[in-house]
Amino acid sequence: MNIDQAISGRHSTREYTTQAVDDEVIVRLIHAASLAPSAMNQQPWRFTVVRDQALLDRVSREAKACMLETLAPGSQSERFHALLDDEHFQIFYHAPVLILISADAPGQWVVEDCALAAENLMLSACAEGLGTCWIGFAQRYLNTPQGKQALKLAQAWVAVAPIIVGHPKHAPAPVAHQAPDIRWVG
Ligand SMILES: Cc1cc2nc3c(=O)[nH]c(=O)nc-3n(C[C@H](O)[C@H](O)[C@H](O)COP(=O)(O)O)c2cc1C
Repeated sequence: MNIDQAISGRHSTREYTTQAVDDEVIVRLIHAASLAPSAMNQQPWRFTVVRDQALLDRVSREAKACMLETLAPGSQSERFHALLDDEHFQIFYHAPVLILISADAPGQWVVEDCALAAENLMLSACAEGLGTCWIGFAQRYLNTPQGKQALKLAQAWVAVAPIIVGHPKHAPAPVAHQAPDIRWVG
């Protein structure tokens, strides 16, 4: 698969088979992530791999509660509320693996660095025939002392990109992406 095929073939995947993802594949994805550019080549990323489904269920429950407590009133909040209130909604969609990309300390560009690593990881997974989805619902909780403790993160770390990975149950339907707004200046 070439880069264009990976870029256009990557779609957020929310239905997975129970098939495990091999350790060597996980290591390859993380290696691809670690080749991303980073500000001043600081490479602040740290990778946490979680496959324990009971732990992911617990993190999902606690992350939903954390989101509900802190949800700001706004256009999305009704929809989010309904989803987060649904006891059957597991924020990780029962994917076999969560790879969390964290920064080892707060810093001016660590979020950008980790997000670039996350995109590399998602494109690399697509090239391996795997599905991925960034789970923003987990981020707030994973930056609390309890969330960091649950995933054994150092308290100084910044949890940036929780990415689920697995074998798609079926090819996800692509969502519409707008034509880019391009202004040629000068
Ligand atoms: C920062 C970020 C947070 C996201 N959080 C969630 C999430 O919590 N749950 C979810 O199902 N999808 C989440 N997504 C996936 C987006 O919904 C998805 O990327 C978007 O709808 C475009 O679809 P595509 O990825 O298939 O192109 C998130 C994506 C990003 C970049």
